[in-house]
This record gives sequence, structure tokens and C-alpha cells, in this order.
Amino acid sequence: MAFNIRTSAQLLLLLSLIHFCSAVWCGFGASAFHRHSYKYEIASLQNNLLRGGDQDDSTERKYGRVSQNEYFLTPDQIEAFHRDGCITLEHVLTEEEVEPLCAIFDRFVNGGVAVPGKDFCDMSQPFGTPYDEWNLVNCMLPSRYFPPLQNNIYERITNHIAAQLFQSHNHTMVKDYDQLLNKRPNRTAAVFAWHQDMAYWPGVEALHMHVNTTATCTFSLALDDSDEENGCLRYVEGSGATKTLRPHRPVNQNREKGHALITDVRDDEPIRLAPARKGSITIHDEYVVHGSGGNNSPRRQRRTYVLAYRAQEIVEAERRIGFTHSHNDQVNWDTFEDGASHRNPQKTK
Ligand SMILES: *[C@@H]1O[C@H](CO)[C@@H](O)[C@H](O)[C@H]1NC(C)=O
Ligand SMILES: *[C@@H]1O[C@H](CO)[C@@H](O)[C@H](O)[C@H]1NC(C)=O
Ligand SMILES: *[C@@H]1O[C@H](CO)[C@@H](O)[C@H](O)[C@H]1NC(C)=O
Repeated sequence: MAFNIRTSAQLLLLLSLIHFCSAVWCGFGASAFHRHSYKYEIASLQNNLLRGGDQDDSTERKYGRVSQNEYFLTPDQIEAFHRDGCITLEHVLTEEEVEPLCAIFDRFVNGGVAVPGKDFCDMSQPFGTPYDEWNLVNCMLPSRYFPPLQNNIYERITNHIAAQLFQSHNHTMVKDYDQLLNKRPNRTAAVFAWHQDMAYWPGVEALHMHVNTTATCTFSLALDDSDEENGCLRYVEGSGATKTLRPHRPVNQNREKGHALITDVRDDEPIRLAPARKGSITIHDEYVVHGSGGNNSPRRQRRTYVLAYRAQEIVEAERRIGFTHSHNDQVNWDTFEDGASHRNPQKTK
């Protein structure tokens, strides 16, 4: 760089200057679209400055949110995802972009959109618990039951991110399922037990796959600030790196009584919290051991919008055996015929 930025005051001054110039420029009749993308260029410039300088070549990559449909990951973020099994991207969506999604979310959890059977349930309690007593309101497949949700801004941006995470694996990542979760305020039992997502899903053998891959990235968009108090995501760092499954057992008496599974975490394992501000996103993989605590906040709910992408071959194979991630599917955890030991409750003790 031709000049050094020594203090945050200098940085702020420079950014204000850029902002002022862009405002003047916009004032001379630039379209709303240009004004919008200008905002992201400034954000991205800010990222570059904060990272400590630019390369000299003009093809330099911009990271972070650069347009309506694009968010570029750094090589470090991609590496961390595959190494640790979970990363957080801050401020992916703006307040104005999140609000319309919150409004649709609220319609679902308040019963304004009809969601059949077990796809509207409490993941922390047995099926049949009265709605008023639910701790953790769960809606599976919201974009199936409310098609206008399809291709919304969150889907478009995560589609772009998912492709980057698996570019070097040569996978075409496609949307597999979506899910809405609300931890109601003051519900200390709104717990997601420790689990690996793969424990819920058919493996390569049960799917009769020709390609041996389970490639998945699951996005969780925070619609409220989430932290330890209201039960943010927590995970065991690096626990999925070997891509092996631990034994799981049903949280409730059996799978007819409730959908949730649980596995054990040892005291000496590195547990990390993944708090996320509204508009930020966590991304986890299919083998990392994760869960979340109850909501101990007296007033704050914790709303999360989940979107999972898997390699196209996997999603096609899932559909061929009738697995859609609906809790109403006939084929399910205890019916996959792959003889996998993690499904055998006897072996968990
Ligand atoms: C992806 O494709 C490229 C080009 O065909 C190839 O060189 C590379 O080995 C492939 N990577 C994987 C992980 O299959
Ligand atoms: C798939 O690959 C994993 C290692 O990543 C290996 O443990 C497993 O046995 C393989 N499964 C099949 C069906 O080839
Ligand atoms: C939180 O729940 C407990 C019982 O579950 C109740 O006694 C308490 O009054 C509640 N607090 C608030 C702020 O609603």
C-alpha cells in the first residue's frame, strides 16, 4: 500500500471521506442498485484495510458480502470449516434484509402456516406435548409448505457460500432442506442434545451411493442475537474431522415418542460456543458434535433459520429412498438398513 493507516481514528476518517464521496457521487443520479453495491464495496474495503493492506494487483479478491447474491469466504474460513467443523460469518444479512424473514418465521411458529404432522413439533419433548408447553418450536421444510420463501436472499447467498466450501472437492452443492427453530424465552429445557447430524441421516450404504461422500454444510441464520444465555449453538471443535459416527440413542423413550437423538461428550473435549448476532450465520458440517443449551433469558427468544446444502448426488440418492428430511417420512433413523452401529442403543452404554 502506498500509505499506512496507523490508528482507527485515521481509518475512520478515511472511510468517512470515501462515504462522503460516494454520497456525492450517488447524488449525481446513480441508480439505487449502484448505491447498494457501493455500500458493500465500502464494507469490503474496510475489511481489507483492517486485515492490514492490499496486494498491488488489480485482480485482488474482495471478501465478505460484495453484492445482493454474493459473499466471498477467505481461504482461512474455508480451511477452518473443514478443520473445526464450524465457523461463524458475521453480519451476512443487514437488519432490513432479516426483518422480512422474521415476519415469515413468526407466521410459522404462531401457527399461521399449516405444517402437517410431526413437521411442526417440539424437538426437546415427546410428540403430543400441548403447544403452550413447547420449549423449542420446530418447523421442518418451511419453503415446501410456503413456496414464496424459495430463492429468498438467504438462500441465494448461502448457495454462493456452499459452492465455495466444496469447490476443491468438485461437488455441486444443492439445497437439501430448511428448518425454523424457536427457543421460547425462559425455557431452560429448550435444549438440543449433543448429536452429529449424520446420526439422523442415511449413510452412503443406505443410500446405495456410487460416490463415497457425505458432503454437507448447514447454515444457521440468527434472527435474534444468540448467546450463551438464550441457548446459542455449541460444538466440540474438530470432533467431526475423522468423519466417524459416535453411538447415538433416542432422547425420549423411543423414536415414536420423540424425534431427537443424543450422544455423549467427554469432560475433556474442547467445547466452543458459537454466539451470533442478528443477521450473522454459523455453518457446521455433518459430523461435528454439536447441540445447544436451554433459553435462560426471561424475555428474549432465540429464532434460528436453518438451511442445509449437500452434494447433488446425495440429495438425489436421499429422494430415491424417500428421505426428504420431513419428520413424516416413512424411511427414518431406525429404518435405514445399513447395519450401522451408531443406531444400536445397546452399544451406547
Ligand atoms: C477436481 O477436479 C480437478 C480437475 O478435473 C482435478 O484435478 C482434481 O483432482 C479434482 N479434485 C478432487 C478432490 O476430486
Ligand atoms: C467411505 O470413506 C470412508 C473414509 O472417508 C471409509 O471409512 C468408508 O469405509 C468408506 N465407505 C465406503 C462404502 O466405501
Ligand atoms: C420463568 O419460568 C419459571 C418456571 O418455569 C417461573 O417460575 C418464572 O416466573 C418465569 N419467569 C419469567 C420472567 O417469566
